[in-house]
Order: sequence, then C-alpha cells, then structure tokens
Amino acid sequence: MKLKFASIGTSSICSMFIEAALKSDKYELVAVYSRNEETGRAFAKKHGIQKVFTDLNQLSESKEFDVVYIASPNSMHFEQTIRMLQNKKHVICEKPIFSTVRELEEAFQIAEENRVYLFEAIRNIHDPNFIFLKNEIEKVGTIQNVMLQYCQYSSRYDKFIAGEEPNVFSRKLSGGALVDLGVYPINLAIGLFGKPKDFLYHATKLRNGIDGAGTLVLKYDGFNCTIIASKISAGQTPSEIQGVNGSIVLNDTTTLTELMYVDRKTSEVTKLEGMKVDNNMIYEASVIADAISTRDNEKYQYCKKLSRTVLQITEKSRHQNDIYFEVEN
Ligand SMILES: NC(=O)c1ccc[n+]([C@@H]2O[C@H](COP(=O)([O-])OP(=O)(O)OC[C@H]3O[C@@H](n4cnc5c(N)ncnc54)[C@H](OP(=O)(O)O)[C@@H]3O)[C@@H](O)[C@H]2O)c1
Repeated sequence: MKLKFASIGTSSICSMFIEAALKSDKYELVAVYSRNEETGRAFAKKHGIQKVFTDLNQLSESKEFDVVYIASPNSMHFEQTIRMLQNKKHVICEKPIFSTVRELEEAFQIAEENRVYLFEAIRNIHDPNFIFLKNEIEKVGTIQNVMLQYCQYSSRYDKFIAGEEPNVFSRKLSGGALVDLGVYPINLAIGLFGKPKDFLYHATKLRNGIDGAGTLVLKYDGFNCTIIASKISAGQTPSEIQGVNGSIVLNDTTTLTELMYVDRKTSEVTKLEGMKVDNNMIYEASVIADAISTRDNEKYQYCKKLSRTVLQITEKSRHQNDIYFEVEN
C-alpha cells in the first residue's frame, strides 16, 4: 500500500522530492502546504492535486495522510516537525535536519512518544552508489588520507553581495556552507569511516558572521579526512580516498557517480562506474518508505545515529568559529 503524504515548501527541491517519491511508486501525494494560498494552488496544480493548506495546524490535524515531507528554510524545520509528530505524522525533513542537537533530541523523543518515525532527507547515503563505494573501498588498502569537497557557487550569493540576506546565508534561518553543503561529505565520511576521534573547522565568515565556506578536518585513527564546503566559489577538483595501494576518485559527493580507481604504482585508471539516475532522491524516498511501511527499527536507528553524529559535528564546528544561529540565543 502506498504512503499518503503531504509536503511543506514550494521550491524546486520540494518538486524534486515529490517527483522522486511518486516515481518510487511508494507514495501518493495528497496535499501541499504553502504560507500563501496562490503559491500553494499553483504548486498543487503543477503536481496534479487539489488539496492546499495554508494553516500548519490544519495540516498537522488532517487525517488524509500519514507522512509529511518538509522542505522549508532550516530554522523552520523544528517547529514544523514537532507539530506534525505531535499529530502522529511520520516526518521526512530536509537536510540539515535541525539547527541544534537539543532540537534533534527533543524531536526524536516526541516521535517516539507518538510512535512515528522522523527521518532526515539526505541523498548520498541512501544511494546504491554508496554501497557500491563501500564495497570498492578496500581496493585502496590502508587508508592514509581523504579529501571530500562540495563547493558550489550559490546563485543567491550575488544577492548577498548586493546587500540582501537570502535564506541560505541567513543566521536567523540557520544557513551557512557547512550545514547546507558540508553535510553531504560529512554524511559520507561518517557512513564510510564512522565517528571521528576529533575534528576542527576553519570557517570563512561572511559579513553577517555565517560561514560562506570552510574546511573541516575529521581526525581518524591513521588518517585525516579533510572536508571543504563552499557556497561562494565553485570547486573543480574531485574528491579522493587515498590508500597505500591507490586512490578512489569521486566526481560528486552527492551522487557518487563517475568513481575511478587509480593504482599508485602503475597509475592505471579503472572506471568503477556507479549507477546514474537523473534524480537520486528516489533512493532516499524509497528507503524511507520501506522503513516506515515495515517499521524497520534497525534502519531507523541507523539513520537516527547518522543524523545525530552529523549534527553534533556541525554544531560544535560552528561554535569553534563563534557561529551561533539565532535560535541559540
Ligand atoms: N536535498 C537537497 O538536494 C536539497 C537541495 C536544496 C535545498 N535543500 C533543503 O531544502 C530546504 C529548503 O531549501 P530551499 O532552498 O528550497 O529554501 P527556500 O527556497 O528558501 O524555502 C523553501 C520554501 O519555504 C518557504 N519559505 C521561504 N522563506 C520562508 C520564510 N522566511 N519563512 C517560512 N517559510 C519560508 C517557501 O514556501 P511558501 O512560500 O510556499 O510557504 C519556500 O518555497 C532547506 O532545508 C535546504 O537545506 C535540500
């Protein structure tokens, strides 16, 4: 049986998730929420449905669906999630799940009390290419050094330069490079190597104190994993997992496609092609639907642990750089 779901947010990422969810054949879209009736109507029409909510309470109290996907600005996630959980809706919340670890623990507690699940929507770790990479990693031998990057010049940075404060660069809305883009390579690192022994973040701060870019070093036994995230410059170099035998080169830390193995001694390059799909949100949608439908507690605990570890790292990293979101005041 398909999961009936509603969505919060009307931007392109919300459309992408809806398309992926429908394509997975495991969901049926029942309603959308927008703060604005007209925006909501246009969005609902685009996705071929009728029901639009402009009141969060009414949305949370509706009996027409069991799951809510949330794609609002980061600082809104907590309040919206809590309302949905309290009304016994499963929640799939966009990355970064919340602004603080405290919010996360409270939300997990409320989910448990209401016997529903709370998942963070994060693409790369649910992608089959992640399992593929995990299986191939032993090729490099003992890992000696890792560099993972996600540097993408944001179209909204031009507005920031012009004096505006777009949501993703806002301290009030819990923005910044590490929580917006850094979370992908961090999830990858934790998924592959586990929790680091220690870590240190060096942020490039913008005029409002938010990180436009930064370098995070995760310390593991025997190697460091350097993560570079930027919303104010575009990365041209791939990511790399270097070992004594050779390196695995990754073109993209979100889709994990175009993987290559380069032998250290011979420099021979072997393509380890991962699967390519247009929209890899289909995997997170599918994995989460299965976990909800079958009450897969093992999967749920795995995802909870990952979200918790990542948020612990981003929160402490921000604090190392004196970056505090408005919700922390
Ligand atoms: N998984 C991915 O690949 C991916 C990619 C991009 C973004 N994201 C995540 O998705 C979330 C949304 O990102 P986005 O870039 O789409 O955000 P956004 O465009 O700033 O906002 C998303 C939606 O939230 C509502 N909204 C906008 N400003 C708001 C405000 N000040 N207060 C309350 N609601 C507001 C708007 O819907 P209405 O006007 O209709 O209410 C808007 O469509 C973020 O958490 C982001 O990290 C994920």
